[in-house]
Amino acid sequence: MEMTSQRWQRTNEYLRNAFGAQDDHLAGLMADAVDRGLPDIAITADVGRLLMILTSLTPGRLAIEVGTLGGYSGIWIARGLSREGRLITVEREDLHADFAREQFDRAGVGDRVEIRRGPALEVLTRLAGELVPGSVDVVFVDAEKEEYPAYWEILKPLIAPGGLIMADNALGAGSWWIDDEGGGERNAADRFNRLVAGDDDFEAVAVPIRQGILIGRRMR
Ligand SMILES: C[S@@+](CC[C@H](N)C(=O)[O-])C[C@H]1O[C@@H](n2cnc3c(N)ncnc32)[C@H](O)[C@@H]1O
Repeated sequence: MEMTSQRWQRTNEYLRNAFGAQDDHLAGLMADAVDRGLPDIAITADVGRLLMILTSLTPGRLAIEVGTLGGYSGIWIARGLSREGRLITVEREDLHADFAREQFDRAGVGDRVEIRRGPALEVLTRLAGELVPGSVDVVFVDAEKEEYPAYWEILKPLIAPGGLIMADNALGAGSWWIDDEGGGERNAADRFNRLVAGDDDFEAVAVPIRQGILIGRRMR
């Protein structure tokens, strides 16, 4: 069966329809965000559910998200954490972080989510100095695509054995796809995918849902 662009689009619509159930708050969150001036670039509910399910398969003690936007993906991750679990999410735009703060509180996970404001590379470098290596069960990367390889270098030592790194845009974004000839973001995503896939301590795969989600698990 040939995969055409229409079939790919309809497949993604089907996935959102069949696996994208969500509560009223999450369903309206991005429309509210857009009204407040945030860009409409969050993951979809089927991807959110994947993040929640995978998070819930780990001990769920500590998660780090890079790229908060309005808190949509963070709420899904927070719902997969253990009862005592915490999410630290990183965002450089105050407009986004302020909106996300409200949404985490409204979703009932506010006491478990800390937003660290600032450029991701600076915030993550500081975090790496604070956290015990191997203490993070879940990482979700969804910020500056060209910085993904650098995020990986900082975050990798923090990930616990059995812990996960997940990343959005493993296969594409609005302006590029992984089979393009080249380009900054495309090349950075390719480099990042291959860094995780080629790491002896990790097993990794990318699932072609929406724009591609990389899933890597620390095996040792
Ligand atoms: C694609 S959006 C994140 C979407 C969010 N994960 C969701 O699905 O709900 C990317 C976010 O990362 C933030 N961001 C981009 N580059 C960043 C950087 N270098 N440091 C910190 N935040 C950054 C943007 O301001 C934006 O809010």
